[in-house]
Amino acid sequence: MNTTNSLFPEGFLWGGALAANQCEGAAREDGKGLSTADALTGGVFGKPQIPPEGFYLKEKAIDFYHRYKEDIRLFQEMGFKVLRISISWPRIFPNGDDLEPNEKGLAFYDSLIDELLAKGIQPLVTLSHYELPLHLAEAYGGWGDRRLIELFVRYADTVFRRYQGKVRYWLTFNEINMILHAPFNGSGIQGTAEEVDQSLLYQAIHHQLVASAAVTKLGHEIDPENKIGCMIAGSPIYPLTCHPDDMIEMVQKDRQSLFFGDVHVRGRYPAYMNRYFAEKGIHIDFAPGDEEILKNTVDFVSFSYYMSYCATADPEKNIQSQGNIMSAVKNPYLSESEWGWQIDPKGLRYILNQLYDRYQLPLFIVENGLGAKDMLTDDGHGGQTVEDDYRIDYLKAHLLQAAEAIRDGVELWGYTSWGCIDLVSNTSNQMSKRYGFIYVDRNDDGTGTMERYRKKSFYWYRDVIQTNGESLRK
Ligand code: BG6
Repeated sequence: MNTTNSLFPEGFLWGGALAANQCEGAAREDGKGLSTADALTGGVFGKPQIPPEGFYLKEKAIDFYHRYKEDIRLFQEMGFKVLRISISWPRIFPNGDDLEPNEKGLAFYDSLIDELLAKGIQPLVTLSHYELPLHLAEAYGGWGDRRLIELFVRYADTVFRRYQGKVRYWLTFNEINMILHAPFNGSGIQGTAEEVDQSLLYQAIHHQLVASAAVTKLGHEIDPENKIGCMIAGSPIYPLTCHPDDMIEMVQKDRQSLFFGDVHVRGRYPAYMNRYFAEKGIHIDFAPGDEEILKNTVDFVSFSYYMSYCATADPEKNIQSQGNIMSAVKNPYLSESEWGWQIDPKGLRYILNQLYDRYQLPLFIVENGLGAKDMLTDDGHGGQTVEDDYRIDYLKAHLLQAAEAIRDGVELWGYTSWGCIDLVSNTSNQMSKRYGFIYVDRNDDGTGTMERYRKKSFYWYRDVIQTNGESLRK
């Protein structure tokens, strides 16, 4: 608990977050197999292109695979304590069901992790960030097939052993609840959320929850020092009005996401889902032993936070607008980003309190940030920069609300801002939707030099980290 007057506790883990498929590129290099992310050439809601052909941005992404040393130097210059990365499953097991790992893929992460440690930056590793080996989607139909549990455990076992003593913080599935809204992105099951059979979808979710618990158990056995967390897309839901029907609607919508945290933290399915499953005619097969495995609960809860939503029971006001991967009713009191994502810093304080009240486990904000169009300009010293005051304003407002939550008593381990270097966006597959403190010269059509430039926010974040958040008071 933070008992001083400072905004953030001592040892707070400041840093940034990346995902392999959005930054590495080298999609077919050194034995890597293709992934579901490679197939989503038209973005999360496009039809998967299997196999991907022709130009697509993620194939080269920002070439982090070859430039990570230069990028890590810049993260070190900002004073990062932690970098959230993901390991690409198909870089290690190209088809997903191979018996032996791809040594060249492991060699890349050996070198990346050693480089981070040499620069004093702790890796926080996501095992599965929207990247299933494409072969498992094609030949097995994705996570609807129970055999994926064993294959995922094999992959996790390989990397837990390889990075034992080097990686302390692990996350199992990125935004595990988003499978409900974008099934192929989250599970390799083809079809939109409306098209996919709900029993199949919840069966896939069940397999992921069992897999998550199984690797949590394994990770603890391999190294008791490992801290293993779940990762949920955190979107607070407000009732659109104080009408009791809206309130009930809000509770029900909220539970759709909370369900994932509840299983990870409590080690069993919550009672409220029984009614939901019965009413929707959803049937899930529990294999013998599943209930036991689910009891292997997480050490902490991590989440992404970009926006909040509203819920209403009134069909006339129930106009769904697209936000992040999920869509919901807009809040009339909030402004929005150029991509229509509503901006709500206080929602961050709310969800930190909600999750801490509910779980009483340490929390970690592993994504937050503003996707915006940036313009390179002269920095007045012969170089180039981006005057991204809008990004600074956004991040500052959110960090101040995180500090409020800490004052409320929430135990918060750290904050990794999303896309700390510009990368390819997930929902829409664009470079022009930028989140970084570092500008990457690459355009949506693939042109550009890949050169890196420090934005104004780079220096601002460096000050925030250097002062452990005290500079936010200014
Ligand atoms: C989260 C994902 O949904 O939001 C990231 O975990 C993603 O992979 C981020 O990039 C921002 O979304 P987008 O669509 O702007 O890239």
